[in-house]
Amino acid sequence: MERAEDAGVYKLTDDIAIVQTLDFFTPIVDDPYAFGQIAAANALSDVYAMGGKPLTAMNIVCFPQKTLAMSILKDILVGGLDKMHEAGVILIGGHSVEDDELKYGLSVTGTIHPAKVVFNTGVRAGDWLILTKPLGTGIISTAIKGALVGEEAVTRITKSMSTLNRGASELMQATGVNACTDITGFGLLGHVAEMIEGSGVGMIIDSAAVPFFPEAKELAEMGILPGGLHRNREFRTGMVEVAQDVPQYLADILFDPQTSGGLLISVPKREATELLDRMHQAGVSEAAIIGEVVVKPKGRVIVR
Ligand code: CO
Ligand code: CO
Repeated sequence: MERAEDAGVYKLTDDIAIVQTLDFFTPIVDDPYAFGQIAAANALSDVYAMGGKPLTAMNIVCFPQKTLAMSILKDILVGGLDKMHEAGVILIGGHSVEDDELKYGLSVTGTIHPAKVVFNTGVRAGDWLILTKPLGTGIISTAIKGALVGEEAVTRITKSMSTLNRGASELMQATGVNACTDITGFGLLGHVAEMIEGSGVGMIIDSAAVPFFPEAKELAEMGILPGGLHRNREFRTGMVEVAQDVPQYLADILFDPQTSGGLLISVPKREATELLDRMHQAGVSEAAIIGEVVVKPKGRVIVR
């Protein structure tokens, strides 16, 4: 727990360990079925981030029975179930309570070989960093709540957030990488900082190479930013240095809290372009090399 890993790992035998995780949240899109899919993909992601194979899941439901139709709950659960089927995961139970605020998620159990666990620490100088999904879902979700974006943006981020990190995870395991985490609430730079905290290395992020949704740029320029974005920036002021010539909207997007974001993978340089090519061929089409791990400045993230 002191290493703030994505999921808990418990060794059963020399060949097998279980990976356990839990995630749930309030709706971030209006469509109940899509919300169910996103919540499930998000919960499964912490197993994928460690290189594990999710096997079973249990539903966690908080539902305001007096104010919302039961058909909404049904659609959420079907969305989640369809995503579990896609992941090859079996739903084996769950628990629901009545609550004023709707929440849904999963507890997930998977397996992994104890020697093949991919931790979020373990980056090495010379590694290149691959990010597998575009940023900006937090900014766009904030705009959705204020009805400030069109259907197209909603469809785009819904598709991204409901996409499993499975393909990227399997390719990462086949290659052999040094570290991985999934990008969620702390934003890209928050998770990047977490990866090098207490290590003997630093990171350079090439801001121009970071994929993001076009709507996030427009909205950030209008000042539509989630509260968590500011908190993420403040939390890491001591560790992260953003060059003067990085545009403000981009500096904002790099701290945007993500839901069901992509994997950030630290891979030896000699393997990086081949892993990236394989990802593109496998349909992880927005994956990009966004930076590198460096010896100096130690313990710092430089964005240029
Ligand atoms: Co995570
Ligand atoms: Co999580």
